[in-house]
Amino acid sequence: MSEAYLVKPGGRLGGRMTVPGDKSISHRALLLGAIASGTSEVEGFLASEDCLATMAALRAMGVGIERGGNRVVVHGVGLHGLRPAPGPLDLGNSGTAIRLLAGVLAGQPFDSELVGDASLMRRPMARVAAPLNAMGARVDTHEGCPPLRIRGGQQLQGIDYTLPVASAQVKSAVLLAGLYAEGITTVRGSGASRDHTERMLMSMGVDLVVDEHGVIRLTPGAGPEAMDIRVPGDLSSAAFFLVGGCLAADDGLIIEGVGLNPTRLGVIGILEAMGADITVENRRMEGREPVGDLRVRRSSLKGIDIPPAVVPLAIDEFPALFVAAAAASGETRVTGAEELRHKESDRIAVMVAGLRALGGEVEERPDGAIIHGGARLAGGTIDSHGDHRVAMSFAMAALISDGPVAIHDTDNVATSFPGFAGLARAAGLDLEVTAP
Ligand code: S3P
Repeated sequence: MSEAYLVKPGGRLGGRMTVPGDKSISHRALLLGAIASGTSEVEGFLASEDCLATMAALRAMGVGIERGGNRVVVHGVGLHGLRPAPGPLDLGNSGTAIRLLAGVLAGQPFDSELVGDASLMRRPMARVAAPLNAMGARVDTHEGCPPLRIRGGQQLQGIDYTLPVASAQVKSAVLLAGLYAEGITTVRGSGASRDHTERMLMSMGVDLVVDEHGVIRLTPGAGPEAMDIRVPGDLSSAAFFLVGGCLAADDGLIIEGVGLNPTRLGVIGILEAMGADITVENRRMEGREPVGDLRVRRSSLKGIDIPPAVVPLAIDEFPALFVAAAAASGETRVTGAEELRHKESDRIAVMVAGLRALGGEVEERPDGAIIHGGARLAGGTIDSHGDHRVAMSFAMAALISDGPVAIHDTDNVATSFPGFAGLARAAGLDLEVTAP
């Protein structure tokens, strides 16, 4: 039996809060810090299960990493300093960890095997194996899924690669392998996906340029050099509270210190197009990443057609957006979002099933859904299918429900948002954690 949430209707959100550090940036700080020369200090690190899986994998390959709370010191071993792990590397639930590590390990002189939990073992890996193998690596999958078996000792060559899907994980794997390749690695068609890897590599002295068409060229030879990194709050974690705030923050809810990288801002744009009252205050830069405080107030949301072009900019926020759409008057159409079926769960199927279980009206489509919103939900029982973002999104659905929302299988919330239940309660949600 796993942990569950019982969320009662009638919650009101308000006050000031911060959310934990950005997951994508925390993974990259560890991974790039590990292969950099010198010591990197990371502040605001997300000590979630996913990032701790990356940390354990790097330690298993001989990287010295010290952690005290959210402060981490990474003693980089340099590009060629990793040592073979004693056994398979277990990346738990984390697609980012397995795919980015695959890029680094493709260029090592030793063999590696990468595995994960039941969800990760079902996720598509041919999308990283194919470009890495085109670079001369030897990466095998099991019918396109993990385990990834990587044969070391291959001399990689830079390639000119056009991404078939807008995926930051695939783009990052190719760029990281490019650090070990002969010649220039070029990645195209990646404009829409998050660019934290590019920003961090440039900050660490790697010769990486992005031209006006979004084409990335990495020339190996320089860097990465260690640097100190301040991780902003994760906009993907703030998203649950942005949606909750639209539904129930009469006096406003302020979320401080949130990362506002332009490649992540889809959720704010979509909510604003639905009529959300969100303002950004205190904009600033932390290193190369923009940061600000978000203020959200109760808003009357209306349904919209979400443009497919913005889907990659909000790829992790669709579970929360489905709940916003259920609250919005009229129809919200999600199209061009087939990638959602390949996340920690099939997020189209699981969100459709969950909204229906609460009494909502939704039509499932191969690449999205049509959500008929505006009516209050009845409440009911949700199976999160072990998906952290599904569980947290349905916690917010209690704000528009007449009866309680029980959410099963919430352990994995700790993969991205340790402390969610406590923060949600402090913000005003009537949420009880029921022990196994
Ligand atoms: C991530 C990229 C996204 C996102 C994931 C984190 C990253 O995946 O869904 O949660 O840190 O690079 P894709 O790049 O596969 O879309």
